Amino acid sequence: MTFSGANRDLVIIKKMSASPANLTNDSEAIEQRVDALLAQMTLAEKIGQMSQLDSSHGYAPDYLADALRAGRIGSVLNVADVNTANELQRIAVEETRLGIPLLVGRDVIHGFNTILPIPLGQAASWNPDLVKEGARVAALEAATTGINWTFAPMIDISRDARWGRIAESLGECVLLTSELAVAMVEGFQGDDLSAPGSIAACAKHFAGYGAVESGRDYATTNIPETKLRNVYLRPFKAAVDAGVTTLMTSFSDLNGIPATGNEFLLRQVLRDEWDFDGFVVSDWDSIRQLQIHGLTENDKESAFEASTAGVDMEMAGDAYSKHLAELVEEGRIKIEIVDTAVANILRTKLRLGLFENAFTNPAELPTIANERSLETARQAALESVVMLKNDNAVLPLSANSLNSVAIIGPLADAPYQQLGTWIFDGDIDLSITPMYAIHSLVGNDVNVRYVRAMEHSRSKASDAFDDAVEIARDSDAAILFLGEESILSGEAHSRADINLPGDQAELVRRIRETGKPVIVVILAGRPLTLTNIVDQVDAILFAWHPGTMGGPAIADLLFGVESPSGKLPATFPRMVGQIPIYYSQKNSGKPATRDNTVHIDDIDTRAPQTSLGMSAFHLDTHFTPLFHFGHGLSYAKFEYQNIRTNAHEICLGETVTVSAELTNTGDVAADEVVQLYTRDLVASVTRPVRELKGFRRVHLEPGQTITVDFDLHTDDLSFFGRDMQSVTEAGEFHVWMGGSSEVELCTEFRIIEGERCE
Ligand code: NOJ
Repeated sequence: MTFSGANRDLVIIKKMSASPANLTNDSEAIEQRVDALLAQMTLAEKIGQMSQLDSSHGYAPDYLADALRAGRIGSVLNVADVNTANELQRIAVEETRLGIPLLVGRDVIHGFNTILPIPLGQAASWNPDLVKEGARVAALEAATTGINWTFAPMIDISRDARWGRIAESLGECVLLTSELAVAMVEGFQGDDLSAPGSIAACAKHFAGYGAVESGRDYATTNIPETKLRNVYLRPFKAAVDAGVTTLMTSFSDLNGIPATGNEFLLRQVLRDEWDFDGFVVSDWDSIRQLQIHGLTENDKESAFEASTAGVDMEMAGDAYSKHLAELVEEGRIKIEIVDTAVANILRTKLRLGLFENAFTNPAELPTIANERSLETARQAALESVVMLKNDNAVLPLSANSLNSVAIIGPLADAPYQQLGTWIFDGDIDLSITPMYAIHSLVGNDVNVRYVRAMEHSRSKASDAFDDAVEIARDSDAAILFLGEESILSGEAHSRADINLPGDQAELVRRIRETGKPVIVVILAGRPLTLTNIVDQVDAILFAWHPGTMGGPAIADLLFGVESPSGKLPATFPRMVGQIPIYYSQKNSGKPATRDNTVHIDDIDTRAPQTSLGMSAFHLDTHFTPLFHFGHGLSYAKFEYQNIRTNAHEICLGETVTVSAELTNTGDVAADEVVQLYTRDLVASVTRPVRELKGFRRVHLEPGQTITVDFDLHTDDLSFFGRDMQSVTEAGEFHVWMGGSSEVELCTEFRIIEGERCE
């Protein structure tokens, strides 16, 4: 491809800088080029840059090509074939007046052709390096088709498992989400954003979307500013600091002002406080939806609100293209607002190196679904599986001592379902199912029988249960592959009941009656309430939707080739009525304990009402969750001891080191995820009972002991106080180290200030 078009202003601009490296890396040169371009652009061309159109046709239709030629489009989304992408770029570069290349966006959420575990599953690995590599291979595969921008990572803190989009999230925890957000941004964008295979990332959805009422997608959010700043905004700040190039607004209404028209978020926080200099895109048609929210009367007013608030680009809507010019001409929108938005977009295009080469030559990139992608997907699946329960060490199964095994359930051999939500480009033919993998691993030594038993996870027909019972009875153990099909989670797929759907619990009960060991592997897009099956099974592996290589990973874990090492990135409630339940809750004035709670079945109706506890709990369930955040068992046994700090007191601005010894007292080598939690006991704004402040995945041989150290700077203990400023307050802190949020190994230290610190 060449850049030989008419009116080559681009050539003039190119001459302003010495080398291509300078052009994309030197911010001064970039700003000069942005200014030079802006100076030449008409208002229509500027608004064109602010407009993104859907282009999922598989070719460049005339209306799109014409709009492009006229400079009315700055970006397309959902082009996923290289010829169309190159053709659109050719028109943009060669046939428009200014030759400005296109941003080609696509939802590359957890892999491209090769699918990794859903983001929530990847979060269960607690492994930023692996998550980064996952984003890297996804970017490399996506880039072969001309995609140069992904709408990921989704970093909405998610504390409601009813919400279908929890699948796309990195869970409930501020620190875990923030660190994995950074990992994903680094993986997508690479060390050099302009290098082939690097694509722009998009931190979404700004902000608060995870707090939608009752987990109903798109619903309202009400988040007090301290909570917004201490919880929901933090991952976005981390992504911005890591250099994320774009942000997407949320569909939701935040405290009465929908995020897409929210100046506080988009100007005060993002630009004034955080100095973000990339651009903000709306969500799909979310500018026009400002009217539906009830914020505006019509599309023109929606364009006014969104552009004033700071939305730089409109996704898949026409409020900007139809109304912005008029608003500028009427003087309601200052041209500076438009210029700033366009500058933000052009800056991003320059950083991506698109002006130097907008075209994609797949031959310059690794092939898709190559060994690196598949191995990363396998490792990610392996590290994401969480062993929730393993009574009497029923797992791992031994291919030597087992003669036969019954494989039962709708998700044992469901190549599509195991991929999960958001897999536009996922290649189903690449999927290796657990059924196939178990056969391959132990099929020569163990008689593997299979009955699907249910057509799909929601099925209520129990006709095939007898066949399942029969093979279970005839086998040494039964492995049930249960959970949710992929369609039950993701955008607009929220559930009010998060039990295993259909008749799965009944299937478990029937298999239980055989008296054989019952192992359940759950594939799902969210935490489920497993209270009705947990006592009926011997072991549970929670595999999320594990992606292309889920089968081999699960088979290796079941048969002890590898040890489970995933840890929950979200709390598992006992019942839906407990939601929201998460580890970093506040203490309240009447915290629940074993001694001050009672179960509905044990109420003594003759006793005074106060005997019911008068504490923060539900009468009809235990006050704790079924499985805590950070929980996850291993075939090894890990013991922590001797937690200590290197100082009992530190001054503001100093660092304290927290250490403990960790020993693998089991007889297999395995990974453990060490977790560090703190509590700020007294603060001017009450603080959570525990906050994750550090984590590290370590590998220990049997019998090995290591010392694990975490450095905590007093800034790590900061929070936004009453005046919305970040502060670390002097006082006492508790600190815990261990393998889950329920760990008890604790010590304390104080932060001091005043004379002794001068
Ligand atoms: C709507 C979703 O909310 C968003 O996450 C996604 O990136 C866009 N559609 C584009 O598909």
